[in-house]
Amino acid sequence: MEPLKLGMIGVGQMGSAHTRTMAPLEEVRVVAVADVDAARARAVGEAVGARAFADAHALIRRGGVEAVLIATPHTLHAPLALYAAKRGVHVLSEKPLAISAAAADRVIATCRDHGILLGVMFQQRTDPSWGTIKRLVEGGAVGAVYRLSLVTTAYRPQACRVGGGRAVALPPSARSNGSCSFPASRFPPLLLSGVIRGRDRE
Ligand SMILES: NC(=O)c1ccc[n+]([C@@H]2O[C@H](COP(=O)([O-])OP(=O)(O)OC[C@H]3O[C@@H](n4cnc5c(N)ncnc54)[C@H](O)[C@@H]3O)[C@@H](O)[C@H]2O)c1
Repeated sequence: MEPLKLGMIGVGQMGSAHTRTMAPLEEVRVVAVADVDAARARAVGEAVGARAFADAHALIRRGGVEAVLIATPHTLHAPLALYAAKRGVHVLSEKPLAISAAAADRVIATCRDHGILLGVMFQQRTDPSWGTIKRLVEGGAVGAVYRLSLVTTAYRPQACRVGGGRAVALPPSARSNGSCSFPASRFPPLLLSGVIRGRDRE
C-alpha cells in the first residue's frame, strides 16, 4: 500500500512532535509542512524531507497532500479544516475541533458532504492505561464512582484559546486545573482508586 501523503499544518510543539513521530512510519509520509513562522517550517521540513510552506492554504492547494494534520492555535482549526475538506483533503485536527459547537457542527457537516474523513486528536483514548482503568471500574474493583479528580501541569493562557499564545509546562508546585493529560500507568493503582473514589458523595 502506498503511504498516505500527509501535510502538517502548524509545526510548533505538537506539530513538530507529530512530524517526528510520523517520520519512521511506513503508512504515512509527511510530504509538506506549513507554519507562519517560515524558518520553523523550513527546519522541520528539512528534517523529514518535506516541502515547507509559510501559508497553510498554499500547502492544501499545492502541497500534493491527501490529508492534513492541523496543529495550529485553536481558532484556526475549524477554518483550516473547512478549507481542506472543500478541496478534497482529509482532516485530522488537534483538539479542540473548533472553538464553538456550531463551528464544530459545520466542520462535521462539510466533511460528510464532501466525503472527507475527519478525526480529532484524542490520543489518550489509545493509551491502554485508560482501558485498564475502565475495566477496573466496570468490574467493580473500586466501587461506585462518585467523583473523578484530575490534575495537569500544562497551563494554557486564555490567549491560546481565543487566538495566539502558547502552552507552558509548569512545575508541580504551580499546578493548575485544566484538561487532563497524564500517563495513568505512572500512578500506583491504590492512588488511582483513591482518586476515583473521591469524597463528594451527594
Ligand atoms: N493532543 C494533545 O495532547 C495536545 C497537546 C498540546 C496541544 N494540543 C493542541 O495543539 C494545538 C497546537 O498547540 P501547540 O502547543 O503545538 O502550540 P504552538 O504554539 O507550540 O504551535 C502552534 C504553531 O502554529 C503556528 N501557526 C500559527 N498560525 C498559523 C497559520 N495560520 N498557519 C500555519 N501555522 C500557524 C505557530 O507559528 C506555531 O508554530 C492547540 O490547538 C492545542 O490544543 C494538543
